[in-house]
Amino acid sequence: METGSLSARIEPQVHIRPSRPIDVDGLTALAERCSDDTLYRRFHGAAGLYVRRELGRVASPTWLHRSWVAVADGAIRGTATLAWRRSGQTDIAVLVEDAWFRRGIGRRLLHRLAAEARRLGVDVLTPTVQADNERAVRFIRGVAPDATVRFAGGAELDVRIPVRALGATELRAAHPGEAA
Ligand SMILES: CC(C)(COP(=O)(O)OP(=O)(O)OC[C@H]1O[C@@H](n2cnc3c(N)ncnc32)[C@H](O)[C@@H]1OP(=O)(O)O)[C@@H](O)C(=O)NCCC(=O)NCCS
Repeated sequence: METGSLSARIEPQVHIRPSRPIDVDGLTALAERCSDDTLYRRFHGAAGLYVRRELGRVASPTWLHRSWVAVADGAIRGTATLAWRRSGQTDIAVLVEDAWFRRGIGRRLLHRLAAEARRLGVDVLTPTVQADNERAVRFIRGVAPDATVRFAGGAELDVRIPVRALGATELRAAHPGEAA
């Protein structure tokens, strides 16, 4: 008979930490390992120079944006960015390497963003999600069941993730020694 422990999924060892300028090469390598579709979902169709510029931005926080990376098996497997729009809304963008999908990296990155947002007094996260990005919608609904996802016409969804939906207690319990 199969026991609970035998059927349990084994989560990989993942370290989440703030990005830093020396991560540019690791982020570039991450992007090179991602499928075209995954890059399209994160960079919205931009390529080449724009992607390199954006990765440079991910590696170097400013007062307008800050990012984290997920390191596993000796390489950066995912990254997430919290950024302030001119409108005052707080955008987020998450990217995980295809071969590492469904291993909890996106969830951990989103919780890390939420912890920082909460610390800064942000109540709602508003990611830019393409209207046909079903994986991202399932991810958001899976990690933040209180999120609202509306199709309002056009190419992007209207997504609102209440920060309170991403419990601080859950983050602490799941990842006790996580670096800020
Ligand atoms: C969306 C994305 C970040 C998810 O990352 P991930 O590391 O695979 O997500 P996780 O493993 O942490 O998944 C957390 C939960 O989300 C849900 N989920 C994620 N991917 C799913 C899928 N393909 N189908 C159904 N549910 C899914 C599940 O509830 C999952 O929990 P479970 O595995 O315990 O069932 C990743 O697919 C990605 O980088 N996509 C391309 C970039 C993109 O679309 N970014 C926009 C997001 S803001």
